[in-house]
Amino acid sequence: MPITDGFDLVSSHAYAEKGVPHDLWTRLRAESPVHRCTADGFVPYWAITRHADVCEISKQPETFSSAEGIAMVRQDDEEAIRKQNQGFGAMRVIIEMDPPEHRSYRKIASPVFTPRAVKAMDDAIRTSAREIVDRLAGETGEGECDFANDVAAAHPLRILSTMLGVPRESEPHILRLTNQLFASDDPDLQREGEDRRQSLMALGLELYQLFDKIIQDRRANPRDDLASLLANATIDGEPMGMTETLGYYLITFSAGHDTTKNSLVGGMRAFLENPDQFERLKRHPELLDSAVEEVVRWTSPVNHMKRRVTRDYELRGQRLRAGDWLVMFYASANRDEEVFEDPFAFRIDRKPNPHLGFGIGEHFCLGANLARRSQRALFEELARRMDWAELAGDPEQIHSAFVVGLKKLPMRYRIKPAA
Ligand code: HEM
Repeated sequence: MPITDGFDLVSSHAYAEKGVPHDLWTRLRAESPVHRCTADGFVPYWAITRHADVCEISKQPETFSSAEGIAMVRQDDEEAIRKQNQGFGAMRVIIEMDPPEHRSYRKIASPVFTPRAVKAMDDAIRTSAREIVDRLAGETGEGECDFANDVAAAHPLRILSTMLGVPRESEPHILRLTNQLFASDDPDLQREGEDRRQSLMALGLELYQLFDKIIQDRRANPRDDLASLLANATIDGEPMGMTETLGYYLITFSAGHDTTKNSLVGGMRAFLENPDQFERLKRHPELLDSAVEEVVRWTSPVNHMKRRVTRDYELRGQRLRAGDWLVMFYASANRDEEVFEDPFAFRIDRKPNPHLGFGIGEHFCLGANLARRSQRALFEELARRMDWAELAGDPEQIHSAFVVGLKKLPMRYRIKPAA
């Protein structure tokens, strides 16, 4: 009897019903780290669960290609999306490009995400964190909230909207669209419609229209922001194509929002369940940076990335063939006993912490510095002002196996009101 056919590793509903499959991954790491899966409704794939193997694969983008898609979705949905020539079909994203093309396109936005450039945004990031915590505190400082929607979603939304030129009044609209994009299987978050595939296509079209309006505006009236940089970018002296420009907007917004949000929610839950660690952070704010790394390791919001094998390759004695699919599970690599001491303990002073939450190699997260500083600012504000907090209901998992996390984290708290 095989350990798993791989269905529970990639099915959105399995995550919602049974949670993140750490027990399966622990067995796979020990007994079958390069595991052949034939899950109903999905293409056959190899499940990669060890830290060293994720590194080996990610550093060879010519052999392990991203160009045919990076998220494991049901086969019929994938075909429908690919056939579309508007909406998603009209966008090309850097995360789905291979070298050498990938490098030319990545260079366009990379200056905006360097540690220095992100530091220059610190005022906006801190203001967002302070305003959100002020709102939570209200007049009395005591209350209840759903941390996922009231806090964690709002913070990255404000920061990314500022960078990409989305007007404040459109923030709820873009929030709804990104929720629908990453939780297209979740009955509470998915787009309404009779046919799931039709809904996905309509969503693509709506995103296209929203970004197209901003692009046209920034071409006519360029400013000093990421939105203008992307709208007016050139590749080899020629203006960047519309499909790539739209794709850049999509990847920045979508890759930046739900990931950071899920990391913040999962981090807060980890603090509620490990109050000693929150106390420690309050007493030792110098641990903020390592706390953020531990939150990203612990939550691993990007759960997996898919690759297509382009030439025969041997990995841990298994023969991968050209044309095979494989799926790297970051959440599993981030609990690898060979790399992390006591991997199932949440420790804010973990050092070293070579987690793969932001990936590694060719496609290493372009927004990692921004994600770090955004989380740091919010946890700093909470650690300084939150006297006490506890769970006020059951957390609920999003129906998603790609960008994973909680859609609800009810909590009760006491926070120092605004000074
Ligand atoms: C905690 C938050 C985040 C996590 C866990 C995360 C995780 C990741 C991972 C694992 C990858 C690698 C994909 C691969 O190897 O194929 C990636 C790529 C990427 N991320 Fe993030 N990310 C986060 C936040 C952000 C933010 C805030 C932005 C931008 C605003 C961003 C933009 C990107 C982009 C553009 C790529 C593609 C890079 C490329 O293809 O070269 N991410 N991210």
